[in-house]
Amino acid sequence: MAEGTGMSKALAGGIGVLTVSSVCGLVLMTVMYKIQIDKFPPVSPPTPTKPVIPTGLPPTLRLPDYLIPESYKVFLQPYFYSAITNNYTNQSFIFTGNSTVRVKCMEHSKRIYLHVHDLNVTTVEVTKSDSNEKLVVSGYKIHQNESNFLEIQLKETMSGHGTYYDIFTKFEGELLDNLAGFYASWYTKNIKFEHNYCCLFLFTVLHKNVSTNRFLATSLLKPTDARKVFPCFDEPALKAVFHITVIHRPGTSALSNEIGEIDGEEWIVTTFEKTPVMSTYLLAFTVSDFTYISKSSGTNIHIHARTEAIEAGHADYAIQVTENILKYYQNIFGLKYPLKKIDQIALPDISAGALENWGFISYQESGLLYDKKTASSFDQERVATMIAHALAHQWFGNLVTMRWWNDLWLNEGFATYMSYIGVQDAGWDLRDLIVLREIQTAFQVDSLNSSHPLSLQENYIQTSAEIIDLFDDITYRKGAALLRMLATFMTEEAFMKGIKTYLDKFQYNNTVYNDLWNCLQETKENVEAFMSTWIEQAGYPVITIITQTGETSQEHFLLLIHSNIVNFLPNSIPWQVDIRYIKSTDFAVKNELLRVNVRRPHFELKDKDDWLLANVNCTGFFRVNYDEENWNKLRMQLERNHNVIPLINRGQLIDDAFNIARGHRLNVTIALSLTKYLINDTEYIPWESALKNLDHLILMFDRSEVYGPIMKYLRKQITPLYKHFEEYTLNGTIPEKHTEQYNQVNAISVACSSGFPECIEMAKSLFKDYRNGTNDIHPNLRRAIYCSAIASGDEYDWEFAWKEYQRATVTAEKDKLRYALTCTKEIWLLNRYLQYTLDPSKIRKMDLVSTISYIAKNVAGQPLAWDFVRGHWSYITQEYGISLGSLLDAVTKRFSTDVELEEVLEQDEDDQALAARALEQVIERTEANIKWVKENKQIVKEWFMGEL
Ligand SMILES: *[C@@H]1O[C@H](CO)[C@@H](O)[C@H](O)[C@H]1NC(C)=O
Ligand SMILES: *[C@@H]1O[C@H](CO)[C@@H](O)[C@H](O)[C@H]1NC(C)=O
Ligand SMILES: *[C@@H]1O[C@H](CO)[C@@H](O)[C@H](O)[C@H]1NC(C)=O
Ligand SMILES: *[C@@H]1O[C@H](CO)[C@@H](O)[C@H](O)[C@H]1NC(C)=O
Ligand SMILES: *[C@@H]1O[C@H](CO)[C@@H](O)[C@H](O)[C@H]1NC(C)=O
Ligand SMILES: [Zn+2]
Repeated sequence: MAEGTGMSKALAGGIGVLTVSSVCGLVLMTVMYKIQIDKFPPVSPPTPTKPVIPTGLPPTLRLPDYLIPESYKVFLQPYFYSAITNNYTNQSFIFTGNSTVRVKCMEHSKRIYLHVHDLNVTTVEVTKSDSNEKLVVSGYKIHQNESNFLEIQLKETMSGHGTYYDIFTKFEGELLDNLAGFYASWYTKNIKFEHNYCCLFLFTVLHKNVSTNRFLATSLLKPTDARKVFPCFDEPALKAVFHITVIHRPGTSALSNEIGEIDGEEWIVTTFEKTPVMSTYLLAFTVSDFTYISKSSGTNIHIHARTEAIEAGHADYAIQVTENILKYYQNIFGLKYPLKKIDQIALPDISAGALENWGFISYQESGLLYDKKTASSFDQERVATMIAHALAHQWFGNLVTMRWWNDLWLNEGFATYMSYIGVQDAGWDLRDLIVLREIQTAFQVDSLNSSHPLSLQENYIQTSAEIIDLFDDITYRKGAALLRMLATFMTEEAFMKGIKTYLDKFQYNNTVYNDLWNCLQETKENVEAFMSTWIEQAGYPVITIITQTGETSQEHFLLLIHSNIVNFLPNSIPWQVDIRYIKSTDFAVKNELLRVNVRRPHFELKDKDDWLLANVNCTGFFRVNYDEENWNKLRMQLERNHNVIPLINRGQLIDDAFNIARGHRLNVTIALSLTKYLINDTEYIPWESALKNLDHLILMFDRSEVYGPIMKYLRKQITPLYKHFEEYTLNGTIPEKHTEQYNQVNAISVACSSGFPECIEMAKSLFKDYRNGTNDIHPNLRRAIYCSAIASGDEYDWEFAWKEYQRATVTAEKDKLRYALTCTKEIWLLNRYLQYTLDPSKIRKMDLVSTISYIAKNVAGQPLAWDFVRGHWSYITQEYGISLGSLLDAVTKRFSTDVELEEVLEQDEDDQALAARALEQVIERTEANIKWVKENKQIVKEWFMGEL
C-alpha cells in the first residue's frame, strides 16, 4: 500500500473541530479540514516486465485463460461517518471486506492468478465447490509489477475438467481522496437558518453561516480499478454475476448496480440483487447521505444528489430527459433496457465527466443537475448530451462489451455517435454539430505521425497506463466520425438494422470489430473491405481534385511531412474513399468510390464559371483540396450567395482550407480569404469553424506584431454579427434556436476580446450591476461577460468574482466564475490562482486540469501555466493518478518557438510514462508550428494589413 497510507492520515489528521451545543440539545459542529498536501517523492512506475513465475505462466500481463469466473459474492464495509456530530466519533476511512469468486477450471494447475491493487489481502482460501473440500494454500503473493497479479500457490492440483472452485479472500483497504477505485469524497452542506429557529441565539453568534462537511464514499473503476476494491478477474471479457452487500453506517444509504434490500441496525446491511452477467469495470458503489427523486415508466428511474440540489429541483430536468432517451433507445436499438432500475448520481468530485456503470451511472454535478436560474443553454444541453452518452453505453459497452481495451472505440465511438441521435429526441437539434465537435477535433490529432490506429492490436495494450492512454480523441471522436461515415455509406436505415442484429446477437457477450462488420454485412456488402482501410491504420487522406482535368488523388494528410516519408507512411494502404459531391451545374448529390489515383471525368469542369464541392456535409473522414481556381470560385460563390453551399460545408471549407494550409499544401491566403464572406453569414457552424481556426492563428501570433492587425480584422468581421444579436443582448433575452444562441455568445466573446468598445462597455456595465447586487446577466452570456469584465477589470473585480465562486452552490454557475477568473491580465493574480489549484478546498481536484488549461489559453498566463505544470508534474501525476495528456496538450498549444521545443524535449527525458503518447504529439505539433510560422508569418501579416 505504498502510495496509500498518507492520504487517509491527511483526511483524518487535518480535521479541526468546533463544537457548539445549545439549549435545545442540538449539537452543531463545523468540521473544517484542509487536505494536506503531503509531499511524497515521485515514484517512477516499474517498467513492464514479464512476470517471473516458475511454470504454467502468463506470457504477458494478461490473465491466463484457464480460470473462468462465473459469480462473485462480495461484502464491503466502509467505516466512515458521513457527518461528525460529537467529540467522541473517530472518523475512519478504512474499508474491509471479503469476496468469494466461483471459477471454472479448464486446465490442471496449481496456481491461481487474479488482480489486486492497493489492497491488503489477509486471508486466502480455496475450496472445491461441489464437495466443500479445502485445498491447501501454500502461499500467495502480489507481484510487484504492473500486472497487479495476486498469485495463489496451491499444494494440490486443481482439476481442469471444467471443475468449479471457490476462491475466498478477506481484504482491507483505504478510501483515499484520489478519485480512483473506492474513494472518499466530501461536500459542504449548508444548514439553513429557519430549520433551527430554536437556536437563534447560537446562530447569531455564528453569523448565520453554518455549513458542515459531509463525507461520502464512491467508486470509479473504469478501466482497471475494480482490483482496488476486491480481488477479481479484472478484464472486460471475464464477465460474471455479482452479488454485492454493503455494510454501512446509519444515516447513509448504499447504492450499487442492482436494487438493494436493507436490514440491520447499528450498521445497515444493504444486500443487492444479483447483477446480470457483466464486466468488473462497470460495477459501482456509493455510500452517502444523498437523497433522490424517482419516476417509474417500466424502468424505475432515480436521480440522487445532495439534499439541497434535490430540494431545489435541480434533478428534475435529468429525470425527464432520462425517461425520454431511455424509451427512444429501446426503440431504435430493438432491445429493452435489461435492468429493473436505473440510478444516476451527481457526485461532487469525479474525474470523468460521467461513468456509465450498469444501472448506476455517476456524473459530475454539472453533467446531471440543471438549475434554470443560473444555467445556460450550453449547461442544459450538456446534461442532455451526457445522459444520452451514458445511456447509449448501457447497450454499447455494458450489454455488448469489447473483448479487450484495444477496441475501446466500440464502446466510446458508438456512445459518442449515438448521443447526437439521442439528444435529438430530447429536443436538441444538434446532429450537424457532430462535425464541429467531434470530426474537426479528431482531424487535428489524427494529422500527426504520433497518432494511432483506431483499433490497435490486442497485445500492444497491456498496462493500465496504456489502457488509460486510449481514452483520447481518436477513440471517442474518430470512432464516432467513422461510424457516421459508415452509416452514410450504407444508408442510415441499413446501418441501424445491422446494429440491431449486432446487439441482439452479442448481448451479455464480448466482441471484436469483425463481429460488427459481419452483422452489418448482412444488410450491405463490402463493409469490411471499406472500413478496414480506416480502422487499422492511423491518419486520414487529403483528396486533391484538379477540376481542369478531373485528376483525383489521395495522400496521407500530415501536418509535418518528414523528408523521409513521402505520400504514405510505411505499410500504409490507400483508403477507400466514398466521395459525395455537387457541382454548380447540378446540385443533386452524386457519389464516387475512390481507391486508386486516377482521372475522374465527372470531376472535370467544362465551363470556367462552374465549381465543384466534394464531401457534401463532411460525411467522409477526409479533407478535400482543389486547384486554386476552384477554391476561388467557391469563395466567390460564398460571397455572392452563401446559401447555395450546404451549411456544414460552409464550415468545412474553412476548416479544410486552414488545415491544408497548415500542412503546406495550400496558400494560407486562400484560407484567410474564405473568412471574408462571413460578414454576411450569421450561422453558427461556419462562424465556429472560422473562429477555431483564427484562434489557432492568434495562438501562433499573439506574442508578435501580427496580433494587432488580426484583432482589427476580427473586430471588423464580428461587428455585423454583434449587431445582429444586439437587440437580444441589450434586452437580456436570447434567440430561439440553440445554434443562434451559441452564435450570440460567439459574437459577444469575440467582439469583446477583439476590443470592440460597445461590447466592452456593455460587459462592464452589466458586471458593475452584478457587483452592486443585481445579477441581470442572462445565464447564456455570463461566461463571456464575466470573462470580459475581469479581463478589463482590476484586482477588486477579481476578488469579487472569487468570493462569488466560493459562495455559489450550483456547479454550473461556479464553473462560469472559475473560468472567468482565468481571464485577468494580472500576472500575480494568475500565479496565485495557479497555486489555488493545488488546494482542494479552493479548487476541487477534478477541476485542476481545466483550470490550468484556461490559464494557459490566456496569453498572460501561458508561461506561468507551463512553468507551473513542469514544476509540479510529479506531484500532480501522483496525486491525481489520471491521464494528464489533455493537460499537457493544453499548456503547450501555443508552442511555436525553438526555445519552447527544447523545453518540451527536456520533459521527454524525464520520467513521463503517464502521458507518453501525448508528449510525443506535443513535440510533433510544436515542430510543425515552428516550421509553419517561419514560412508564413510575413504572408499572414501582409494579408491582414491588406484588409485594414
Ligand atoms: C468537545 O470538545 C471541546 C474541545 O475539546 C470541548 O470544549 C467541549 O466541551 C466538548 N463537547 C462535548 C459535548 O463533549
Ligand atoms: C464476509 O463478511 C460478512 C460481513 O462482515 C460476513 O457476514 C460473512 O460471514 C463473511 N463471509 C465469510 C465467508 O467469512
Ligand atoms: C496494509 O498493510 C500495511 C503494511 O502492513 C499497513 O501499513 C497498512 O496500514 C495496511 N492498510 C490497511 C488499510 O489495513
Ligand atoms: C459469445 O459469442 C461467441 C461468438 O463470438 C459464442 O461462441 C459464444 O457462445 C457466445 N457466448 C454467449 C454466452 O452467448
Ligand atoms: C446535409 O445536411 C443537412 C442538414 O444540415 C440535411 O438537411 C441534408 O439532407 C444533408 N444532405 C445530404 C446529401 O445528406
Ligand atoms: Zn463513454
